[in-house]
Amino acid sequence: MKLKNLSDKKIIVSAGGTIEMLDPVRFMTNRSSGKMGVSIADAAYKAGLNTLLIAGNVDKNLLSGKKYEIIKVLSTRDMLDAVKNQLCDNALLIMAAAPADYSFKEISSVKIKKKSDELNITLVKNPDILMESSKIKQNMNFNNLILAGFAAETNDLEKYAIGKLKEKNLDLICANDVSTSESGFESDYNKITIYFKNGLKKELNMALKKDIAKFILKNIDTYLGEIDEK
Ligand code: CTP
Repeated sequence: MKLKNLSDKKIIVSAGGTIEMLDPVRFMTNRSSGKMGVSIADAAYKAGLNTLLIAGNVDKNLLSGKKYEIIKVLSTRDMLDAVKNQLCDNALLIMAAAPADYSFKEISSVKIKKKSDELNITLVKNPDILMESSKIKQNMNFNNLILAGFAAETNDLEKYAIGKLKEKNLDLICANDVSTSESGFESDYNKITIYFKNGLKKELNMALKKDIAKFILKNIDTYLGEIDEK
């Protein structure tokens, strides 16, 4: 696969869920497998691009034998720090990860013992990595930085995806329906629609995540070529 317009960009891909610790033996995470993000990093590397994977809770087997750089992180805040350290004007950030939206207000340094019948635990909102990246893009004048998000939805896919595209100030968003077991989370398959900020919409029917990865990169490459011409 030839990706002319992406050839001198640094491709930063995030994958997997993040882990929020409650105490030394308990944590909260989500069902993201990391397959989509790893497939994108694989496809980017295979296309000869400068590739970096920032991996959250991703199965060790999925990460073994990779020839590109991998930074492993635990929590959403760790992922944010890793992304912030890597962002530059000439990068493409693809946030395929599913960072936990909330973390525990207090992390106990010792195992919490069972005492009362009810245990109330307070969660606090985590920073949004894409939103923070948009702010960095603006403040640092990283005009060439391309921000790509994912929107995993169970309903009203287009409405929520376009909402996120606008709210997070993204260049594009890849929307996928996770309401069925054939697509989304642990599956090898996915069904995806890409919405670009110029209104362009690209759709791919149910396909293997490795083919979706190529489809995403190819379409970003084409999009960059088109906006360059204008
Ligand atoms: N994302 C992020 N930082 C977070 C949460 C999500 O950067 N703390 C990114 C994801 O990697 C994805 C996009 O935002 O690219 C959308 O994530 P999603 O979970 O679909 O949406 P949220 O913004 O978290 O909203 P909600 O959970 O309410 O649907």
